[in-house]
Amino acid sequence: MNTTNLTGPMDLSEHLAEVRDDALGDIAAAGDLDALSSVEARVVGRDSAVAAARRSLGSMPAEDRRDAGRLINDVAKELQAAVETRREALEAEARTQAIEADALDVTLDYQTYPIGALHLIHQVIDEVSDIFIGLGYHVAEGPEAELAWYNFDALNTPPDHPGRLESDTMYLDYGMPEDEMLLRAHTSPIQARYMEQHDPPVYIVAPGKAYRNDTIDATHLPVFFQIEGLAVDTNITFSDLKGTLAEFARQFFGPVTKVRMRPHFFPFTEPSAELDVSCFNCDGPGSTCRVCKGVGWLEMLGCGMVDPNVFEAVGYDPNEVTGFAFGMGVERLAQVRHGIESMRTFIENDIRFLQQFPGS
Ligand code: DAH
Repeated sequence: MNTTNLTGPMDLSEHLAEVRDDALGDIAAAGDLDALSSVEARVVGRDSAVAAARRSLGSMPAEDRRDAGRLINDVAKELQAAVETRREALEAEARTQAIEADALDVTLDYQTYPIGALHLIHQVIDEVSDIFIGLGYHVAEGPEAELAWYNFDALNTPPDHPGRLESDTMYLDYGMPEDEMLLRAHTSPIQARYMEQHDPPVYIVAPGKAYRNDTIDATHLPVFFQIEGLAVDTNITFSDLKGTLAEFARQFFGPVTKVRMRPHFFPFTEPSAELDVSCFNCDGPGSTCRVCKGVGWLEMLGCGMVDPNVFEAVGYDPNEVTGFAFGMGVERLAQVRHGIESMRTFIENDIRFLQQFPGS
């Protein structure tokens, strides 16, 4: 802008008003801090119209200089102030943008998935295993497709035992005595396999699936779970068996649980017994309890002292070691403890049933 021919305050003030309006427009239009810096240089810097006006003061009549100087200073101050105000606004805007660019939107909607849980049967397996681990036992496993030898012969079960019939046991390979294969009918073959592989002492529990040619009803499933137990050492007695199972029953069913044993028969134990636990739901016999049907006792498991023939079959010397064994049905444990009407519920996959046992 040409200012050299300005002659006095009137012309100057008009000129400055124009300069000021243009400059304020440019300052307001500066879109970012870089643009504002170049606008600032242009409107208040050394080459600005304001600076040129200041330089022209010298050639002005002396009486006009003071007013002209004030006018120029006022415009210069106003423009500088406008630059600062705009700079603060742009800086604030830049900060807000940076914060927004950095922000995590915690209100964002997201897909939730329900957390699953172990099936009640597996919760019971874990719980029973934990109780025996606490008593010093290890957890062992064995194959579900089993040789008849381990399922029957090694367990002192004679060839004519009714359980060996095809009507009872699910065979994979039937009729060739040497290598008859079946789906194990109980977890007891794990005992024989374990003893074959390990020297005494033995303290194991062995959970797993078992298979029987049974029709599904409230108390039977053709595929079900058992937990086997075996303790072999020197001088293991029947009282060790009873004490161990009583401790288990108290931990599983509650501290006031009583146990009783009734004589029974299993090929692989002698003597053999069935263990009953006192009903945790009522005060004993004669009640109308729906858990024990008024008996006061609940049949829980089979057990006994390991038969010497079993020790011989697996290479142990029955003159050196004694032991006890037991086997329990997991569905039965769960059914009794939770008052579950029918075992069918365990395999129906009804989410309303499953959700009642969310586990820990
Ligand atoms: N195997 C037996 C069954 O399925 C349960 C059983 C009874 C296991 C006595 C044992 C035992 O280890 O000693 O009915």
